[in-house]
Amino acid sequence: MNPAPAIRVRNLSKTFQVPVKAPGMRGAFRALFKKENRIVPAVQDISFDIAPGELVGFLGPNGAGKTTTLKVLSGLLYPTSGEVEILGFAPWKREKDFQMNFSMVMGQRTQLWWDLPARETFVLNQKIFEISDKDFRERRARITELLDIGDLLEVPVKKLSLGERMKAELACAILHYPKILLLDEPTLGLDLVMQKKLRNFIRDYNRETGSTILLTSHNMADVEELCKRVIIIDGGRILYDGDLSKIVERYAPDKLVTLTSSVPLDIAGLKALGKVISHNGSSAELEIPRKDVSRVMGLLLAQVPVVDLSIEELPIEEIIRRVFLENG
Ligand SMILES: Nc1ncnc2c1ncn2[C@@H]1O[C@H](COP(=O)(O)OP(=O)(O)O)[C@@H](O)[C@H]1O
Ligand SMILES: [Mg+2]
Repeated sequence: MNPAPAIRVRNLSKTFQVPVKAPGMRGAFRALFKKENRIVPAVQDISFDIAPGELVGFLGPNGAGKTTTLKVLSGLLYPTSGEVEILGFAPWKREKDFQMNFSMVMGQRTQLWWDLPARETFVLNQKIFEISDKDFRERRARITELLDIGDLLEVPVKKLSLGERMKAELACAILHYPKILLLDEPTLGLDLVMQKKLRNFIRDYNRETGSTILLTSHNMADVEELCKRVIIIDGGRILYDGDLSKIVERYAPDKLVTLTSSVPLDIAGLKALGKVISHNGSSAELEIPRKDVSRVMGLLLAQVPVVDLSIEELPIEEIIRRVFLENG
C-alpha cells in the first residue's frame, strides 16, 4: 500500500464573487442599491495527491488558478467545495501541528519585518516555532551558507534588492524545517546567478529534509532542473498530471538539429532528411523524429561538409504550449 499522501486534494473548487460595476456615475449609483456579482471560477474540481518527499511543479499561464490553489492549501482561503488535507490536517483550521510543519513563500508578499534586519525575524520565528538554541544555530548556519546570505541578515529588509530579499524570505520560511513547503514563483525577478542558487537550495533542502514541495513557476529552468512530476493547470482545471519526461516524449516527438556547413545547403536535400524549420545559406534548422536522429546524422555527416552541429530537445515552453493547444 502507498503511504498516506502528504497533500491530498479532492474535487477542489474555489469561486470568487466580484462586484460588477456598471460604467459611469449612474452605474456607481445603481450599485449602491443593487449588488450585482460576477462569479469567477478560479479553481474547478481539481484532484491530486502528492507523496511525502515529492517535489512537484505546478504550471499554467497567468490566471490559471495556481496561486488560488496554493492559498487554499495554506489555509488563507476557504474552498468553495471539495476537500484538502495536508499531513491529515484541514489547513483552514490552523491547528498548531499543521502550522509547525507548513510554510508558504509568495514572491509578492513578505513575512519579514520591513524595517528590521532579517536576523530579527529569524529570532522571532525561533520563538514561534519553538526551535531549540542548538537547532537554531545549526540551521541558521546551514541555511545562510547554502543561500550565501551571511551579511544580508544584518541589513534592514527594506534595503535589500528583490533577489536578496527573496533569499532572506526563503531562509526565514524554512527555519522550522517545514515538512510541507509551497513556493509561488520563487525565482520571479531574480537574475540568472541568483535563480540558480535558489534552485540548488530548493533541491538540497528537499533532499536533506525529505520535505514535500509544490512550486509554481514560469521559469522553465526551474521546472526542468527540479521537477520530475508536473501538474499543468489552465482555466482552473488540470490538463496534465504526470512525469515531465512523458509529455516531452509525447508532445515533442522530434529533436531540433541545428547545422552549419562550409558550403551552401541545398533545400531539397534538407527536406529529404527532416522537417526544415529554417534555412539560410549554409545554415539550417531541422526537426527530426527522435528515433531517426542517429540514422539521419549518419547520412548528414556522409553527405555534407559540416562545420557545426547541435541536437537539442525542443524548449520546454514550446512543449507546454503544445499541451495547452491540444487540451485547452
Ligand atoms: N481575490 C480574488 N478576487 C477575485 N478574483 C480573483 C481573486 N484572486 C484570484 N482571482 C481570479 O481567479 C483566477 C485565478 O487567479 P490566480 O489563482 O491568481 O492565477 P495564477 O496564480 O495561476 O496566475 C483569475 O481569473 C483571477 O483574476
Ligand atoms: Mg499566481
